[in-house]
Amino acid sequence: MHDIRTLEFSNGSLQLIDQRKLPLSRELYICSTYEEVEFAIRDMVVRGAPAIGATAAYGVYLAAAAYQEFPHEAFFSKLREACHVLIKARPTAVNLRWAVRRMLALAESSSALTPPQIAERLLAEAKAIQQEDVDTNRRMGSHGNTLIPPKANILTHCNTGTLATAGWGTALGVVRSAVEAGKEVFIYADETRPRLQGGRLTAWELVQEGIPAKLIADSTAAFLMQQGKIDLIVVGADRIASNGDTSNKIGTYMLSVLAKEHGVPFYVVAPVSTIDYEIECGGESPIEERSREELSHVGTCQIAPDGIEVYNPAFDITPHSYISAIVTEYGVARPPFTQSLATFQS
Ligand code: MRU
Repeated sequence: MHDIRTLEFSNGSLQLIDQRKLPLSRELYICSTYEEVEFAIRDMVVRGAPAIGATAAYGVYLAAAAYQEFPHEAFFSKLREACHVLIKARPTAVNLRWAVRRMLALAESSSALTPPQIAERLLAEAKAIQQEDVDTNRRMGSHGNTLIPPKANILTHCNTGTLATAGWGTALGVVRSAVEAGKEVFIYADETRPRLQGGRLTAWELVQEGIPAKLIADSTAAFLMQQGKIDLIVVGADRIASNGDTSNKIGTYMLSVLAKEHGVPFYVVAPVSTIDYEIECGGESPIEERSREELSHVGTCQIAPDGIEVYNPAFDITPHSYISAIVTEYGVARPPFTQSLATFQS
C-alpha cells in the first residue's frame, strides 16, 4: 500500500509530512507563507533533493500570492527576493535551485499579465513540477529495475523514497519498481548518521510497504560486503556534476570505495534536474555543514561532552570513477559520464 503524501497543496496552503517527527508520530506541518516553506526546508521538515525542489516551487507561488496586490515592479522585486531566500535554504541539493529558477522564468515570461494572473500560473506550474516528479521517478524505476538481478541483496543509504520526492522515490523507487515487477529483493538500510534518515525514514517506508529489510549501523556495511552479502548498492544524489561526480548524503563516498574494493556495482539514481551542467566536477559543489547538535545530541539527549568541537558536513562527493551507472528518467548512463550525461541536457 502506497499512501504516503510527502507534500500536498490544498485550501491555499502546503501540507508537509513533518519528517522530523517520523517514525514515532505522523504529523502535518502547514505552510501558508513562503517564509514558512523556507523554514520547513532549512529545518528538514521536508528533505531529499526532489522533495525540496517541489516544496520550494509552492513557496514561490505562496510569495506571488502574498504580493499579488503590489504594483507590477514591486511584485517582481519581492518575488525575486523570495526566490533568492528559498534557494539559499539548503545549498547542496540543486533541485531546489532548478525548481525555483523554473518558477521565476515562468513568471518573467508572463510579465504581460497581472500579478494575480501570474500567481495563478505559478500555482499550476508548482503542481506540474510535483506531478512530473512522480512520473520521473516511475520512469527511473523502470530503467533501474533492469539493473536488479533476481533475489538481489541491496544496500541503500539515507532516505531516497517517497519521503524524499513527490512520490515513489529515486533509489528506493527502483527497489519499489523491482518489487512491483515481482522480483524478490532484500534491503539493507544504513541508519545514516547523524540525522538517521535510514533508521527513521527508509525503515518506516520499508515497513509500510512490507519489503523485506534489515536496518544496519553504517559501520556494518563493510562487513556485509566482505562476506559477499551485498549484490549491489543504490543511492540517490543531491547534485551530479557534468563528469558524473556525485554529491550525496555523507557516507556515500565511503560506500563507493568499499563497493569498488569488493567488486559490488554502485548505482546512482537521480532525475536530470539533479545534474548541474554548470559545474564540471564535484569539487565545485557546495557542501552544506549542519549544526553541532546533530552530533552532540540524540534527540534531546546530549551524548558528547560540552567543549568538544564538531565537524558535520551533510554531504560528500563520490568521484565518477567509483560509479557503475547513473539512472535517470531518460535511461541508464554509463561511463564516460561526461559524454553519456551530456545526451540528457536540454
Ligand atoms: O539531508 P537530506 O536528508 O536532504 O539528504 C537526502 C539525500 O542525501 C538523498 O540521498 C538525496 O536527496 C537524493 S533522494 C531522492
